[in-house]
Amino acid sequence: LSTRRASEVAGLVRAVPDFPEAGVTFQDITPLLADGEALHDVVRSLARSVSGPQVDLVVGMEARGFLLGAPLAIELGVGFVPLRKEGKLPPPVEAVTYDLEYGSARLEVRSATVPAGARVLVIDDVLATGGTAAAAVDLVERCGAEVVDVQFLLEIDALAGREALAGRAVTSLWGVP
Ligand code: PRP
Repeated sequence: LSTRRASEVAGLVRAVPDFPEAGVTFQDITPLLADGEALHDVVRSLARSVSGPQVDLVVGMEARGFLLGAPLAIELGVGFVPLRKEGKLPPPVEAVTYDLEYGSARLEVRSATVPAGARVLVIDDVLATGGTAAAAVDLVERCGAEVVDVQFLLEIDALAGREALAGRAVTSLWGVP
């Protein structure tokens, strides 16, 4: 994306103070998703940001990681695997419990859908504390696959989520303070 277009697209994400609870600023990507050109632009831009060797699989986190991950997988010509919250996937699953910016959660994957040795791109909409993304990386590696890229639409710079992903190739299209 050109700098000008990136800033137009970033302007479609609405920062909502004190949601879902006091002190948390929610990054609402629904206006961006509802804009066809912006959605296409970010998916193409994420696809072009892939570093290193070809990826074999895109893995996205419930729920908003699905919204970007499936179109990104199509753009890259590979499959998509959803990481879901507790109790949504039929067994057998691998599971990890992790801390969120607000509360805690459990992420699960059907390990049969992540082949050992696969080169995986992990995608989510927002990097906040990095807890969700670190759990996703952990799950993918427990399946014997390799995480070659971790991508986000945007990262919240103040929460320093990249520290939870130290040593990983991390890309976000833009940052917010
Ligand atoms: C949000 C966001 C990321 C995560 C980032 O999801 O979509 O998945 O939080 O936070 P972290 O970096 O501090 O872990 P949320 O848990 O709100 O779930 P949802 O997408 O199902 O609404």
